[in-house]
Amino acid sequence: MRQCRQQKSVAWKDAAAIDPVTATDEENERRVTQGLKAQFPDHVVIGEEAAAAAGSIPKLTKAPTWVIDPIDGTTNFVYGLALSCVSIGFCEGGVPVVGVVYDPYSDELFVAAQGEGAYLNGRRIQVDNAEKLSEAMVLFELGYVRSPEGVDRMLGGVRALMLGGVRANRFIGSAVLCLAWVACGRASAYYTGVAGEGGKPWDFAAGAVIAKEAGAHLCSMSGGPFDIESGNCLCSSSEALASNLLSCLRAAGICKE
Ligand code: IPD
Repeated sequence: MRQCRQQKSVAWKDAAAIDPVTATDEENERRVTQGLKAQFPDHVVIGEEAAAAAGSIPKLTKAPTWVIDPIDGTTNFVYGLALSCVSIGFCEGGVPVVGVVYDPYSDELFVAAQGEGAYLNGRRIQVDNAEKLSEAMVLFELGYVRSPEGVDRMLGGVRALMLGGVRANRFIGSAVLCLAWVACGRASAYYTGVAGEGGKPWDFAAGAVIAKEAGAHLCSMSGGPFDIESGNCLCSSSEALASNLLSCLRAAGICKE
């Protein structure tokens, strides 16, 4: 990835040409899948590009399953913005239990396993201690939705948080890095999925384990249990912050209980 900073050769997964795929996505996924299959021939592997080629996302089962995003933040990658990563999650019984995320630009490796804590380049990491919006740096995604209603909802969320006194909002274009950054305290919360723009299982599988093991509170945008197949996610440094953020978005009609 580091060697191909700006991609000239891009294909688009959608007619509007906003969701890109590059040869590097495909090559990364081929290499990771090959390595995993060699080590764990009986395990299931779900990869973003294989799913795109097949035209559907396989449902997660109870079987041991690897969930790969070969490049998360592909649009950043295409434009040469150094904000993308490789993400590999492992699920057991349908639940993510191991996460590995590598950001080649900053040479940062995030790893976590259920019950074992989360680490960044070998050092234990922890979420920050924000509880109020006024103490929070909130990450958000403007995704691939382009309907007027969807765009209004996404921007309405940003507006509600800003009027609600949030300390800062940032959009970085990589769902996986957003989760990893909440885990290491670079941000206090990350949310997605208020307008159907939300992520896919490979956007959440690894990052969710890393964030959870770093002490994050994960839930759905309705405040229920988090599910990597639901297309929405709120990851925050504390339950109190999740509750404050959801109250603010609900009051503005952006999401419901
Ligand atoms: C995308 C990025 C983006 C998020 C999208 C994801 P990709 O993943 O994480 O920030 O808004 O929902 O699909 O396409 O770069 O692997």
